[in-house]
Amino acid sequence: MNERETLKVNKQGHLEIGGADCVELAKNFGTPLYVFDEAYIRSMMRVYRDTIAEEYGGNGLVLYASKAFSCEAMYVIADSEGLGADVVSGGELFTAMKAGFPAEKIYFHGNNKLPSEIRYALDCKIGCFVVDSATEADLLDAEAEKRGMVQNVLLRINPGVEAHTHAYVQTATPDSKFGFSVHNGTAEEMVAYLLKKKHLRLLGYHSHIGSQIFEKQSFVIAVQKIMEFAAEIKKKYGFEPESVNLGGGFGIWYTDEDSKIPSGGYREYLSALISSVKEQCKKYALALPRILIEPGRSIVGEAGITLYTVGAIKDIPGLRKYVAIDGGMFDNPRYCLYQSKYTAVLANRAAERPTELISLAGKCCESGDLIGINMNLPKAETGDLVAVLSTGAYNYSMASNYNRNLIPPAVLVKEGKAQYIVRPQTYEDLVQYDVIPAYLKK
Ligand SMILES: Cc1ncc(COP(=O)(O)O)c(C=O)c1O
Repeated sequence: MNERETLKVNKQGHLEIGGADCVELAKNFGTPLYVFDEAYIRSMMRVYRDTIAEEYGGNGLVLYASKAFSCEAMYVIADSEGLGADVVSGGELFTAMKAGFPAEKIYFHGNNKLPSEIRYALDCKIGCFVVDSATEADLLDAEAEKRGMVQNVLLRINPGVEAHTHAYVQTATPDSKFGFSVHNGTAEEMVAYLLKKKHLRLLGYHSHIGSQIFEKQSFVIAVQKIMEFAAEIKKKYGFEPESVNLGGGFGIWYTDEDSKIPSGGYREYLSALISSVKEQCKKYALALPRILIEPGRSIVGEAGITLYTVGAIKDIPGLRKYVAIDGGMFDNPRYCLYQSKYTAVLANRAAERPTELISLAGKCCESGDLIGINMNLPKAETGDLVAVLSTGAYNYSMASNYNRNLIPPAVLVKEGKAQYIVRPQTYEDLVQYDVIPAYLKK
């Protein structure tokens, strides 16, 4: 079995992930449960890493965008595959450091990094900040000076390419809380500003054009815009980028409306970026920069599923059938946030064909608490096991304790065996930060 063919139906008609029977997983670990296939995660990391090694002489680094799924084990895996990491908060940075991740391979993002986060990251001696405001540049410069150091930075620019799943638009609209537009002069101003900072060393540019993108051309056009900008800056200021960070955003399969991209397909995305960088550098007589990319979703998204147990079933004649599960928006808020679509299967009867359209309802006191509407499923009964697929990215990391529900634990499957990478919460965990002021006590 190819590492990326993580899901299959076994002889018992049960869904398997990474060789582990989902019915057994539910029995041993309970539900709701996040399950991740380690082989899949590693194979995706290797696709990107090896493409840079083979097609760009290794002059680059893959940064795992840890916002997709951040826990200590993920940083250990990323490190063991030779990746760097992109973090977006003091909490993600702390998790990475706790896991022993090499600080010099950490890139810190965010449009409003807190002063405390900036100080903490400097003290950790992280590799690079992706600067996204003049406020940040000032503070970073001052804090670096106090520490007698010169901090490497990239500038987040907005190349005016906005990508959607299957299309892209080129826009000069600078209306984004992220980055500085190359079209309205603010990116250039920021370059000039950063070049004057004595305790910052500008390495180059960063851009991230969106997420869940299938259109290769969107990335290629973004590269063209970035390199055109780099050439203009070189002409005016003599500054040439040593590094160019092209962000993340490669799409994954959630439902059959999405393409199912084979590993080779992700290699093609990166190859297209690499070729475009080479071409543009030749065109503008720029030295080849170090290429950084920041995939998150495409590394962990399809590597993960969530297992739930069916509880109440409510069939509203002529309207809709709700199949309620023991999870919901507290473990996967993506339908509520963006009407994201998912595929569900009955993991204990995985060989059965879907026969009905149902809405998968969560257990929160919120009418909108759904994992999806009009999902295909065989006729579900109370006690059946539902697997929602492609939940590895932006599910656990977006989970909450809404309604004081417990965030499910996560297990990592390796060669059919599962182990916790996030332990189960308890009700005691929920109250650990609560304080009853003395005057309220009986
Ligand atoms: C700056 C940046 N880099 C990388 C990513 C990861 O994108 P994806 O998970 O779509 O690969 C994101 C996602 O929002 C991002 O904002």
